[in-house]
Amino acid sequence: MDFAARVERIEPSATVAISNKASRLEAEGADVVDLSIGDIVDFDTPENVKDAATEALDAGHTGYTPSSGIPALKSAIVDKLHADGLTQYGTENVMVTPGGKQGLFEVFQALVEGGDEVALIDPAWVSYEALAKVAGADLTRVDTTGYDFALEPALDDLADAVSDETDLLVVNSPGNPHGMVYSDAALEGVRDLAVEHDITVVSDEIYKEITYDGIEATSLGSVDGMADRTVTLNGFSKAYAMTGWRLGYYAAPEELVEQAGKIHGHSVTCAVNFVQHAGVEALENTDEAIEEMRAAFESRRDTLVEFFHDHGKDVATPEGAFYIMLPVGNDDVAWAETAVEEAHVATVPGSAFGTPGYVRLAYANDEARLREGVERLAENDLL
Ligand SMILES: Cc1ncc(COP(=O)(O)O)c(C=O)c1O
Repeated sequence: MDFAARVERIEPSATVAISNKASRLEAEGADVVDLSIGDIVDFDTPENVKDAATEALDAGHTGYTPSSGIPALKSAIVDKLHADGLTQYGTENVMVTPGGKQGLFEVFQALVEGGDEVALIDPAWVSYEALAKVAGADLTRVDTTGYDFALEPALDDLADAVSDETDLLVVNSPGNPHGMVYSDAALEGVRDLAVEHDITVVSDEIYKEITYDGIEATSLGSVDGMADRTVTLNGFSKAYAMTGWRLGYYAAPEELVEQAGKIHGHSVTCAVNFVQHAGVEALENTDEAIEEMRAAFESRRDTLVEFFHDHGKDVATPEGAFYIMLPVGNDDVAWAETAVEEAHVATVPGSAFGTPGYVRLAYANDEARLREGVERLAENDLL
């Protein structure tokens, strides 16, 4: 077969090589601690959300819905956005998608094409690069590694990286893979550059509910001057332990929702009907369940940071999400291969996120398994 250039431009997800190795080792009987996946391993979707889905099925909510989502979910999303300070959005600004990733795909497809430039802040979640490349765009990147992944001290570097040629900038706070929450001053710096160069900014807020030490992640679209140039991306996967349900959304100026909505309508039609009903319940009645998970992740973060500091590893303390970046020396790919082969611990090489020399560990995993994993790394002289 003759494949299109757009698929030749991208690589399969970076986790695949390591997780293939992990699966092969497990098939051979090894007990692998998998710290590579961005999934919530030991929390299930809250019961009331599951019940809402079952009730919706029983009530016959099994057909197509309006393409942009059922009115009840869109209103609940608008209420949430308003609570986050994003008062510019009404239901006409919301598109409900099967997962946040589909939302990003639609937004990239609608906004950039061959010859356009997308700016990423490294370390950046793997799919941004792929989504930009599939859309035909070129990338410019700025590295925050030297600033312990904080954006504020990297604003001059960002200013050097973007220009009038830049069409789209992606901001992800709290961020995957680094877990940092960008300060208000950093977001204001982003705003200044976006206004100066007329850049649209995607604010990926999928980890917004998962922050630590009382820190709150400001929504970029609530910063003065950003209402009309921000696409706010969010979803249910992480905050509500709903990764497999595939439910997300974006909120944006109406003209973008209309344009991206054409791609949505011609590709997925709508998000799954009964899942959207469960989404209403998730937004309205899960405060306690979210807090229980958030607190558990915070305690796991503390455990890991303490463990690594005790072993002389200079890790930056994550302020949110459920990932930590571990410095491992020059060859992060070789390190990750050794870790899975010899210590039976799966991680993701930082090269996948634009930051070689690090690996990402996900800690949405049972605390005892986490300890087991990092102790094995220490025993195998990997720390
Ligand atoms: C930063 C970030 N954005 C978006 C997503 C997409 O999540 P989903 O498609 O499950 O909503 C993920 C998932 O890992 C993510 O880490």
